[in-house]
Amino acid sequence: MSQKTPKSENITEVEHLVSHEQRFRIKGHKGGVFWLTGLSASGKSTLAMAIEKDLTRLGFHVYVLDGDNVRHGLNVDLGFSPEDRAENIRRVGEVAALMADAGLIVITAFISPYRQDRDTARKASHGKFHEIYLAADIETCKARDPKGLYKKACAGEIKDFTGIDAPYEAPDNPEVTLDTAKDNIEICVKQVVEYIQNVSGLNK
Ligand code: ADX
Repeated sequence: MSQKTPKSENITEVEHLVSHEQRFRIKGHKGGVFWLTGLSASGKSTLAMAIEKDLTRLGFHVYVLDGDNVRHGLNVDLGFSPEDRAENIRRVGEVAALMADAGLIVITAFISPYRQDRDTARKASHGKFHEIYLAADIETCKARDPKGLYKKACAGEIKDFTGIDAPYEAPDNPEVTLDTAKDNIEICVKQVVEYIQNVSGLNK
């Protein structure tokens, strides 16, 4: 549940009658939130979708929440100010926590540039949160620029662009760090898939 105090007063939380263990047994694995963070063009979406494909093949129930996709639906009302990014990450953190509670492996792919927002998402997941840092440097991301957004941001056509005129705060203590500037996609996917298999097995 959210760490915030509810706006409404007359609401009482209800207990589920299904245990986590029952849910694990149905799925054959534990649920968890695997939070990818890194600059635009660091490889978050590509990696997330490849991980989803591989884990699905291995029999995991897995789903990707991707920034560009979620901003077309749930978060269609949000922009890129620090306040809107905080709300973007807060909502996704809550949704991901619910999905993980239901037993799913959730892979999130959001820049999530602020440490405090990622910590809020971590708290929402109550011990089921794993931060995965895609440590590609800004020069590499600018050179890749698959959507041409860095070019636009440098020309002043996009404001508050992460890494150009908006900050990115790298994680202090991520559970996994990937060198997506140096290592190819297959190496990075393997690293994450093995990590998820290790922490999500029923005997862990
Ligand atoms: S976050 O900062 O709030 O976590 P999110 O991951 O949802 O961002 O969305 C990032 C995506 O939106 C980028 O991959 C890029 O395609 C697009 N985008 C559009 N404007 C911006 C901007 N000002 N800064 C960063 N990304 C932007």
